[in-house]
Amino acid sequence: MTPSNRCGRTAVALRPGRGVCRGLSAILPGSMKGILVTIDGPAGGGKSSVARQVAGRLGVVNLNTGAAYRAAALLALREETDLSDAPKLAALASRVSLDPDGASIDGERVPEPDLRTPEVSAAASRVSVDAGLREVLLPVQRAAAEEARERGGAVVEGRDIGTVVLPDAELKVFLSADPEERARRRARQTGREAELDRIREAIQRRDRQDSEREVSPLRPAEDAVVLDTTALSLDEVVSRVLDLAAGQRGVRKL
Ligand code: DC
Repeated sequence: MTPSNRCGRTAVALRPGRGVCRGLSAILPGSMKGILVTIDGPAGGGKSSVARQVAGRLGVVNLNTGAAYRAAALLALREETDLSDAPKLAALASRVSLDPDGASIDGERVPEPDLRTPEVSAAASRVSVDAGLREVLLPVQRAAAEEARERGGAVVEGRDIGTVVLPDAELKVFLSADPEERARRRARQTGREAELDRIREAIQRRDRQDSEREVSPLRPAEDAVVLDTTALSLDEVVSRVLDLAAGQRGVRKL
């Protein structure tokens, strides 16, 4: 397990509550291992915080597929590639790999802060509309998830994980939240409260790009559980997902 998967490293994206870490160990024994949980949803819906905590509670890894798209975008920016040059984007994406600790380019780990700049966020949303690039990143994500499953299971977060990447996952969750609330969370999370208007606009622009693209648009899988997290604390969302995961034991052999 990576350090980022440990319960207790609560991100600030959702209102913190109490008691989830302590109480659930009794409810969720080691038999949860092997499960694949997908967490999809728009930016700022709480995916990363929830995925990290749920993975920690289940004792499985947390795979953040957005890192692969961000790494491809970073590479495109570094190499001053035209973000609509499809053959070039596909070639760049083939240099990206993914594992539970993050993304690598040409086998070299990309530091997380390099993937999180506003420029890379905007470019990642743009390059992710490209069908060829998505095609290259699909097996990269599947291989990382499969390896994680073999190591005990994973919580895999992204946009199309339940619909396209892992359609057979045991549990699919789609986290949504009011755009205003998502912008507030993102501003708080990044310490940029003064830039709320700009963050709101960027979130709305990315929402549009992510849900209107032709290939793998952002939408819940038919068998996904949709949770609106607008009025929920982080602990409440984590609790709901853990309850759903515990419910899987009744219908699937884990
Ligand atoms: O989750 P994130 O914000 O780190 O993702 C960055 C971008 O990558 C986002 O704009 C949408 C895209 N993405 C995607 O299209 N499919 C995924 N499975 C994950 C991310």
